[in-house]
Amino acid sequence: MRAAITGWGIAIPKNRLTNSDLEKRVETSNEWIVERTGIKERRIAEPGETTASLAIEAGEAALKCANITADEIDLLIVATATPEQPIPHTGAFVGEGLGLRCGSFDISAGCAGFVYELVTGSALLTSGSLRHVLVIGAETLSRVTDPNDRSTCILFGDGAAAMVLTPSDDDGPGLISWDLGCDGSSAGLLGITAGGSRVPASEKTIAAGMQYIKMQGQEVFRRAVRVVVDSALISLERAGVTANEIDWFIPHQANLRIIEAGARRLKIPMEKTVVNIDKYGNTSAASIPLALAEAADSGKIKSGDRILLSGFGAGMTWGSAVIEWGSP
Ligand code: ACO
Repeated sequence: MRAAITGWGIAIPKNRLTNSDLEKRVETSNEWIVERTGIKERRIAEPGETTASLAIEAGEAALKCANITADEIDLLIVATATPEQPIPHTGAFVGEGLGLRCGSFDISAGCAGFVYELVTGSALLTSGSLRHVLVIGAETLSRVTDPNDRSTCILFGDGAAAMVLTPSDDDGPGLISWDLGCDGSSAGLLGITAGGSRVPASEKTIAAGMQYIKMQGQEVFRRAVRVVVDSALISLERAGVTANEIDWFIPHQANLRIIEAGARRLKIPMEKTVVNIDKYGNTSAASIPLALAEAADSGKIKSGDRILLSGFGAGMTWGSAVIEWGSP
């Protein structure tokens, strides 16, 4: 069996933060941000909006799109780097909001989180007697971004996207191949250092701004291009297809230059590469499903299309997958 994507939905905060808004806050310029990242604006959650509230909104839209009710979902997975709170997991809040009583858990794999949950959800769906699995990538990165750090505040945005997975035939649409990885020796390149077991939150950590994301951007950039390409090639090989036979490439939206470098090395033209980073910035675990859902809604992606997904993030984690689009 395979797991096909049969419904999808997104949730985007209304509040836009443009490059010219950022020019007023930190020493930067619209030209620098567009040239170095490709980002023009990002969405920022209102005070009442949270990772779970965005996930619930996206989940409701995905159920509607799949034409199923909440009681037909047998498992919920939420991928996020910005959980609702440390305990309990975000899935508890999302499940309650959606009216679910099935099992749920979170996946923390940075910006590769969606590929991780797609693979996990597909494996559980196809090994058990589950009817549908709901996988959601949801983030409120604005809550952990230092508003005065120009090297990170220009990058991150908030949003969520959800996908319903449904069993499909062996040779039907769904997840065909995948590759997941993590190189923990790079853990120090990108992270939030306080608030966990190693350095619990305290007045000192707050005063030092350790609740915010810190990143060695250049080094992350270099490694990102390498892992996106290497992992994508593994997934392509496992699927028995070449990059030429891919209809759409949907990479994690972290930086337009990373996307272009990855596509170039994979020899996939930009016309076949889905890009929405200009509108949303980097929304971490939400970025790939957001781009996938928008491409599906716009009619770009057609039934039978082969899609290559590739993500990377804090850890450093990476994950890629080849899927065939369509309903079983
Ligand atoms: N505006 C103007 N100048 C800036 C800004 C800014 N917003 N930010 C940095 N600069 C300056 C730097 O201070 C530096 O100045 P200097 O030469 O005088 O020291 C200069 O611009 C170049 O800085 P770099 O860091 O070398 O710039 P780079 O071209 O590498 O772009 C960026 C920085 C955009 C962060 C890039 O490195 C990047 O995108 N890295 C990857 C990030 C990423 O993909 N993260 C993914 C994972 S996120 C997750 O998992 C949650």
